[in-house]
Amino acid sequence: MSVHFSLKLIVAAAVLGSATVAIGHGNVTPQGADTGTLPDLGSEPLAENPFREGGKHGDMNAQAIAVGESGYAGNCAACHGIQAMSGGMTPDLRELTEWDDEYFIGRVMKGYGNMPSFSGTLDQNAMWAIKTYVESLAKPQ
Ligand code: HEC
Repeated sequence: MSVHFSLKLIVAAAVLGSATVAIGHGNVTPQGADTGTLPDLGSEPLAENPFREGGKHGDMNAQAIAVGESGYAGNCAACHGIQAMSGGMTPDLRELTEWDDEYFIGRVMKGYGNMPSFSGTLDQNAMWAIKTYVESLAKPQ
């Protein structure tokens, strides 16, 4: 991680201190996600995004993107930015690649720094759908 990025995170931590207060007042209530027609993936976390093209449930790619788009908007956009354009205050999720699958699901399940755990709000179905949606977006310039 570059020094430049670390400095940004310190600023992010300061700003997110107030974002947490907003959550306490119910302004940014996590929404959960309606995973609709996606298959049940069970509770044991998978190591790979099953909805990616060529993945175990790659045929559900389009449905996963749709589920992930609303799941992202309701649970992640407040901190990671509209359409995952972070603006530098939080990590830009579009930078994650398919090699980061386990890292991604681990962070979202357990929480990370100022980010809360989503285990109580989202099942892994919704989490992988969100990853699939983010992967469908254009990479940052
Ligand atoms: C309250 C603000 C907040 C919300 C809501 C939030 N995040 Fe985060 N997220 C953060 C912060 C801050 C970090 C960086 C934590 C650190 O470096 O200590 C982070 C880090 C991450 C990381 C690690 C990225 C990396 O490059 O290291 C992933 C993956 C992630 N978030 C995914 C999500 C997803 C998916 C959602 C929605 C389900 C979400 N986050 C919701 C604030 C948030």
